[in-house]
Amino acid sequence: MFTETIAQYSIAEFAGEVRAGLTRPGQKELPSKYFYDEVGSALFEVITLLPEYGLSRADERLLRDHAEAMVRPLLPAQVMVAELGSGSGKKTRWILEALARRQRTTYYPIEISPAALTQCAKELGQLDCVTVVGVERAYLEGLASVVADRRAGERLLVLFLGSTIGNFDRGPAQRFLSEVRRRLQPGDALLLGADLAKPLAQLLRAYDDSLGVTAAFNLNLMARINRELGADFDLRTFEHLARYDELERRVEMHLVSRCRQEVSIPGAGCTVSFSIGETIWTESSYKYTTDEIVQLGESCGFRAETQWVDQEWPFAETLMIAE
Ligand SMILES: C[S@@+](CC[C@H](N)C(=O)[O-])C[C@H]1O[C@@H](n2cnc3c(N)ncnc32)[C@H](O)[C@@H]1O
Repeated sequence: MFTETIAQYSIAEFAGEVRAGLTRPGQKELPSKYFYDEVGSALFEVITLLPEYGLSRADERLLRDHAEAMVRPLLPAQVMVAELGSGSGKKTRWILEALARRQRTTYYPIEISPAALTQCAKELGQLDCVTVVGVERAYLEGLASVVADRRAGERLLVLFLGSTIGNFDRGPAQRFLSEVRRRLQPGDALLLGADLAKPLAQLLRAYDDSLGVTAAFNLNLMARINRELGADFDLRTFEHLARYDELERRVEMHLVSRCRQEVSIPGAGCTVSFSIGETIWTESSYKYTTDEIVQLGESCGFRAETQWVDQEWPFAETLMIAE
């Protein structure tokens, strides 16, 4: 239907985070949220189609098969839907259709990637009885602006799908969901997707596919720094690495320097040295057990209402009600 975007991207913030992450002592790091420029968002969509990356298909099967049951506990109230980091929003269609069969529904995808929001408006903007209002903001700021739009008697369903919660370290995940809860009212709901622990080989293939799309997605972070901050990363001198930390139960993605080198990043006001084999840690994907997800929700002020688990690819959707 229509899309209204409140733009908010700051190159100064990007430059500051790049400088801080690459000049800190010890392990170099870059925040994974910067993967998602136009190229990164397009590559992520391709990743979701890869045979090795069963996660998105598992999530979509659960949403397709259980959308009615997922929205039922919120009815018969009028329900507004907000999605944290919607991406293209492809899978969300099932939830919106389940609601739109009963009521006119407003959907707020909250995204820092304008390209993802454009794609999302294309995917979902044509659904009958659904109004899409794109919110180009970080998760919590976006959620605060959605809540400010709430009318008396409306309930809010917050979607956090695709296991994006796995990109937070465990402590920050708990603090983040508590902040989400603080913006909700009792009776609102959170539908939380989370990837579950599974055999090592299957996990590593999901983050290091044979076509090299995940490698391109990872390396695009350097290409983005070249494009936006005028850096001179030579992408051929870095390689993608996915590894599993058994103790933490997380897949880590790194970019490994193949040689000793210096990279200049004028837009961030720094030059960065790399030794052979030194890495930049770009993303973590923590894996959960079904009980851990319930406990996590409960520790943040939610009551777990129902949990659905995919049988083909261990993945859980958990509906939590704000208490
Ligand atoms: C792993 S993708 C998941 C996309 C989609 N939810 C799915 O399940 O396929 C994460 C999405 O969250 C967005 N994102 C990352 N960090 C964000 C932040 N701090 N605030 C808002 N959106 C963010 C990214 O642009 C990206 O589209």
